Amino acid sequence: MAEELEEKIELPGDWKRTGYCGLLSKSDKEAEVILYGWVNRKRDLGKLIFIDLRDREGIVQLVIKSESGKIFKKAKTLKNEYVIAIKGKVVEREEKLKNPEMPTGDVEVEVENLKILNTSEAPPFLIDEKSEVNEELRLKYRYLDLRKTKYQTNLKLRHKMSIELRNFFNEEGFLEIETPFLTKSTPEGARDYLVPSRIYPGRFFALPQSPQIFKQILMISGFDKYFQLVRCFRDEDLRADRQPEFTQIDVEMSFPEEEDIFSLIERLMKRLFNKASYEIEIPFKKLSYTEAMDKYGSDKPDLRIPYEIVELTEEFKDSNINFLREKINRGNKVKGLKFEDKIILSRKNLDEINEQTKSLGGSGIFWIKRENGDVKSSLKLDTNFIEKLFKKTGENISYLLGICEENEKGLKILGELRNYMGKKYMDLKKDDFRLAWIKDFPLFVWSDEENKIVSNHHPFTSPKYEDLDLLEREPLRVKARAYDLVLNGVEIGGGSIRIHNSELQKRIFKVLGLTDAEMEQKFGFLIEALKYGAPPHGGIALGFDRIVMILAGEDSIREVIAFPKTTSSLCLMTDSPSLVKENQLKELGLKIIK
Ligand code: AMO
Repeated sequence: MAEELEEKIELPGDWKRTGYCGLLSKSDKEAEVILYGWVNRKRDLGKLIFIDLRDREGIVQLVIKSESGKIFKKAKTLKNEYVIAIKGKVVEREEKLKNPEMPTGDVEVEVENLKILNTSEAPPFLIDEKSEVNEELRLKYRYLDLRKTKYQTNLKLRHKMSIELRNFFNEEGFLEIETPFLTKSTPEGARDYLVPSRIYPGRFFALPQSPQIFKQILMISGFDKYFQLVRCFRDEDLRADRQPEFTQIDVEMSFPEEEDIFSLIERLMKRLFNKASYEIEIPFKKLSYTEAMDKYGSDKPDLRIPYEIVELTEEFKDSNINFLREKINRGNKVKGLKFEDKIILSRKNLDEINEQTKSLGGSGIFWIKRENGDVKSSLKLDTNFIEKLFKKTGENISYLLGICEENEKGLKILGELRNYMGKKYMDLKKDDFRLAWIKDFPLFVWSDEENKIVSNHHPFTSPKYEDLDLLEREPLRVKARAYDLVLNGVEIGGGSIRIHNSELQKRIFKVLGLTDAEMEQKFGFLIEALKYGAPPHGGIALGFDRIVMILAGEDSIREVIAFPKTTSSLCLMTDSPSLVKENQLKELGLKIIK
């Protein structure tokens, strides 16, 4: 056994790598090379063995001829995922043997010497871009999955973006400053991950949901322009664009107006997109929250989809459609999704869209379709009425899909229907990037769950000064100096101008229902800090994983994170979270209640 091992396992010794497999080309013709890599595939043709050797840059074909005797015999024992080193000569392939599908397909390497550095068990799945393997198995063996070109490419892109953004902020005069992970809970709307203190049993640190308070305090300390590429932790329900730990490009500056933040981030985005070989136009479109909701039924509209919502209650109030009139009298609103004739919807399509509306919680749609001057509809409408309708929607409109629901519910349903139809009936291009700022958000929203008003973003967001007198009287009407950045239906960033006045900060906490004692216990240090010459300040945080996901053309941030969690917050590779020993719990003063 030992002998067998010795025979198989060799060390690199003085073999110094000359370059990467995946970067070889015709210009390396006749070069003597030393390569390291994994056996991607072996084809044994009896007198000739072909090996596809893989490293992080790609694959090159090796050829081992039977004349090479001992080396040939050794090559016969190779299996997939063995780690090998070879010495050999790059040769140009005969014209008819060139492989245009392969970046290195013009050449191959004739092997003169071979070392087997390690063997491999048969992997649980083929390291092959095309093989379909369920994600759970791939996450358990993440180290094998990461060997695929896709992940090597995605993580290289991520690296490139992080270097580029650090250079950008450095050139703009920003300082990268680290903030603590063991800290006090910062409210960002999710649950905290808690870390029990051993020294103070019963007390807990919280992992930061964001460095929000620390970056504000850095402004009070005079650091002026701060950024950090920083991990944040949120215990929330996961989706394709959410992970319990994720990375933010966190930014804060002193003395800014909204426009300064917009312009900074637009220049950053242009630079990042450029680095990924895409051109985008700046400045970005700006929409108020109300406009976004009324037109697109969403505060993160996918602007690649040309469908828009139109308000039609007034028109239908005196139509001949009884059931709509009745619903309107009960306070419901008629709204339509309007679009031009870019798509043709069959009767079957329209039925299916009706079913989809019901599954979104609506009571169904009615439709009106104009085709070559001909009008068809699921409602019996007279011609004058239809003409009036299309006057409102615009003459070029050929479809109207209508609903009658309570106002906000209707907007939400049409917003989701808009996304659904965009994905289903339009060829949305992943590299058609539509960026927009959404601004003028309400400062507070009503939470049914908590049965009280809560901050829409976080409680440190500045209200618009002109709305200050509404704070206590009509808090839900107060607008915030907050903004989100959206890209193709994904919220990629959010920020605000902050409250820099201790009294105003206390007023906001009070409106949120905090008692003086709670304020002191949770945020006493911030309220205190704001009293010592806090400059006006503001900032933003961008979702780094989401930006890389979009630039990589992926649909999930798991594809651009080396070791992600599953959608049920598990790390399948390390099998965590895991149980701990009784004495560890005891030391922390903890007891598990089953
Ligand atoms: P916010 O909570 O909007 O703002 O977060 C900023 C951006 O971070 C990304 N993001 C996430 N990405 C992946 N997984 C998650 N679970 C997740 N949660 C958020 C989003 C989001 O737009 N402190 C404020 C910023 C500020 O006011 O400056 C904050 O954290 O892209």
